[in-house]
Amino acid sequence: MINLQKLYEIQKTLKSVGYPDYKRISKEIENYVKNDKDLEKVLNDIKSNKPWEYIKGSAEFYALDFKVNKNVLIPRIETEKLVSLAIHEFKDTKFDTVVDVGTGSGCIIISLLKSLTLPTIHKGSIDNINFIATDISNKAISVVKRNLKYHKLDNIIHLHKMDLISKLKLKDKNVLILANLPYIPTLQYEKLDKSVKEYEPKIALDGGKDGNIYYKKLLEQIKKSGLKSFTLILETEGSIVNKTKNIFKKYNTEILKDLKDIDRFLIVRG
Ligand SMILES: C[S@@+](CC[C@H](N)C(=O)[O-])C[C@H]1O[C@@H](n2cnc3c(N)ncnc32)[C@H](O)[C@@H]1O
Repeated sequence: MINLQKLYEIQKTLKSVGYPDYKRISKEIENYVKNDKDLEKVLNDIKSNKPWEYIKGSAEFYALDFKVNKNVLIPRIETEKLVSLAIHEFKDTKFDTVVDVGTGSGCIIISLLKSLTLPTIHKGSIDNINFIATDISNKAISVVKRNLKYHKLDNIIHLHKMDLISKLKLKDKNVLILANLPYIPTLQYEKLDKSVKEYEPKIALDGGKDGNIYYKKLLEQIKKSGLKSFTLILETEGSIVNKTKNIFKKYNTEILKDLKDIDRFLIVRG
């Protein structure tokens, strides 16, 4: 336990570096630190803008707990809607395969699968669906492995290190593709907050000059894969969403808003 004076010190430090939710986080820190030495380390980390999720090694997403470290993006609250949109797709469509491309911590596919196994959320069987997660980063893959084990899904979700979906065998399959790929245009990336730029992996954020290099590449790979049909749900940056939509202009597309009413998601059907 730490005393009130220390709690005040935590709140003051969080406020000084601009933590938006400093009251909640100060409570978490209070429960996390065991002694003065721990506290000093946490306060120093916070002063150097290290995100709280990396300090404690976990993040909450879709009411679940995920292990995180500097090799994966901290799951963002806005991405939770991508999971809800994916759940909705199971109402009318039978998928053979679900792919979470650029899985990072694994938060999207793990939350989806956890939800689909709840009878209150999904009535049908998911036994014959092949669930796959891919990422190009070996370091991210080892974080996903830990999360799959932690959520007891390591025998169900197949994890592959690869460039997007390039090596998957999708011929004649009806595929749901979920993608929160790096989408921040490089110039915008350079101006990001210190807590993001200095701590989160660049490979998870920088989407190239126009922010769309990965979505363009993904479409090329979809076309080559020989799949029968696909539904792609992707997350992108509000300022480039129309350009992202334009990549998929030959297909049926729909733009959807995030929690802050910003156009952020695209559903593409082909
Ligand atoms: C924006 S992060 C999203 C992580 C996670 N899906 C989430 O929503 O929190 C993008 C992820 O894509 C991965 N990535 C980047 N380039 C990739 C590529 N060519 N093929 C597969 N994954 C890639 C990064 O390593 C990173 O984990």
